[in-house]
Amino acid sequence: MQKWFEEAKLGIFIHYGIYAVDGVSESWSFYNGRMPYEQYMKQLDGFTASKFDADKWADLIEKSGAKYTVLTTKHHDGVALWDTQFSDLNVVKKTPAKRDLIQEYAEAVTKRGIHLGMYYSLIDWSHPDYPSVYEGGNIPEDLSTVNKYSSPLDGIQDEERWQRFLQFNNNQLREILTNYGKVDLLWFDGDWERSAEQWNLPEFKQYLQSFNPDIIINSRLQGHGDYKTPEQGIPITRPEGPWEFCTTINGSWGYVPTDNQYKSLNQIIRMFCDCISLGGNMLLDIGPMEDGTIDQRQEDILLGLGEWIRAHEEAVFGTEEGIMTRYYLGGSTISKDRKTLYLFVYDDPKENICLKGLCNPIKKITVMHSDKELTHEIHGGVPWFNIPGTTWIHMTAEDTHEQVTVLKLELEEELDMYGGSGAVVTHN
Ligand code: GLC
Repeated sequence: MQKWFEEAKLGIFIHYGIYAVDGVSESWSFYNGRMPYEQYMKQLDGFTASKFDADKWADLIEKSGAKYTVLTTKHHDGVALWDTQFSDLNVVKKTPAKRDLIQEYAEAVTKRGIHLGMYYSLIDWSHPDYPSVYEGGNIPEDLSTVNKYSSPLDGIQDEERWQRFLQFNNNQLREILTNYGKVDLLWFDGDWERSAEQWNLPEFKQYLQSFNPDIIINSRLQGHGDYKTPEQGIPITRPEGPWEFCTTINGSWGYVPTDNQYKSLNQIIRMFCDCISLGGNMLLDIGPMEDGTIDQRQEDILLGLGEWIRAHEEAVFGTEEGIMTRYYLGGSTISKDRKTLYLFVYDDPKENICLKGLCNPIKKITVMHSDKELTHEIHGGVPWFNIPGTTWIHMTAEDTHEQVTVLKLELEEELDMYGGSGAVVTHN
C-alpha cells in the first residue's frame, strides 16, 4: 500500500453523470422504480457538459486541501464518461457533450500533483450480458423476461455470458488504466451483487496491478481491497488498517437540486477532524450540475474547509491518530515524532480545557490560528505511583476559532499517556 494514501487525509469524490440532467439519484432512481429505465436514459439527450472546465474543478480541489480525487467514470447505469471502444453507451457517442471528460479531468488533476482516482461500477445495469444469473435455477426461454436487477442466490449462471461481461469490464478498465496517464487509485462499487469467485478474484486484482503495481484499490472488492470504506456514518471505533470515510455534503451523491439538507461548514470540519483523529481519511463528495458547474453551496464548503486546513496544516498533515476521548473530550492528532499533541476544541470552553492521563511535562501550549500562548495548571496525581494529575488548560470563548480551534501542546519527550485505573490507597 502506497504511503501517500494514509498521509492524504482529504479526498474529493465527484459523482458526475446524466442523472444530473433531471437531478435524480444516480442509477438507483430506475433500479428502485422511481422512474422507468427509458425515461432515465432520456437524460442522455440533455447532458451537455457545456461549462465543464476540468481546470476549474482541479483548482477547487486543490483549494479544498485535498490530496486526491475520485470521479465516477461509470456508475451502475453503465454510462461511461469517456470514449470507450467497448460500448456506445458513453457521453462522447450518446450525448450532446461529445467530449471525453475523463481525459480532461485526468490531465487537470495530474498537472496539479493531485492523486488521480477513478470510480468504476463493477455492476452494469445496462449491459446485455450483466443479467446472466437466473432465478430458480432455470434459464428462461425468453431472456427479455429476466429481471435485470436481481442477483438471486438460488440462481444458475450462464457462464458464457458472465465471462463475456467480465471481459467487458476488463477491457474498459484497461482503457481507464492505460489511456489517461498514471491512475493512483481505483474506487470500485457494486461488488455486493456477485461473489469473489464470480468476480474472478484474486486474478482480477492481479490483472489491474499489471498496469500499475502501485495502484490502490478500495475495499469494495469482496475482501480483496486495500483499505476500508465506511460510508455516510462516521466510525465510532477505529476501523482496522487504512480507511476512508466517504460522505455527501447534503444527502445526495449526484446533483439533486431538491435536496436542501446541507451540512454546515462547521459540521463538515468537525467530521473531518473526527476522521483524522481516528487515523482515517475523509472522501467528501460533490455532485456537479449537468453543465459541469458546481452548486455554490458545495463550492463554499470546499473553500471553507480548505481555509481551515491551511490555518492548521501542521495538525493535519504528517500526523497520526490521536488520543482516546477518555483522555480528552474532543478530537486530536499526534505529530510523527510524537512530541506534539494537537487538540481539536469543538465548543466554547467556559474556563478550561481538561486533559487527563498526560504523563509528560508540557513545554508550551499555543492556540494555532492566533499563536496565543495559554497557561495551564495541574491538579492531583500520585507521583510515587506514577499516576498523573489532571491538566487544566486555561481557555475561554475569546480564544476560539470561528470553526474548530486547535491547541498545540509541545512536550519535552515523546507522548506518554497513563493507561491505568488509578491506585487504591488503603489506610490502616
Ligand atoms: C452508495 C450509493 C452509490 C454511490 C456510492 C458512493 O453505494 O448507492 O450510488 O455511488 O454509495 O459511495
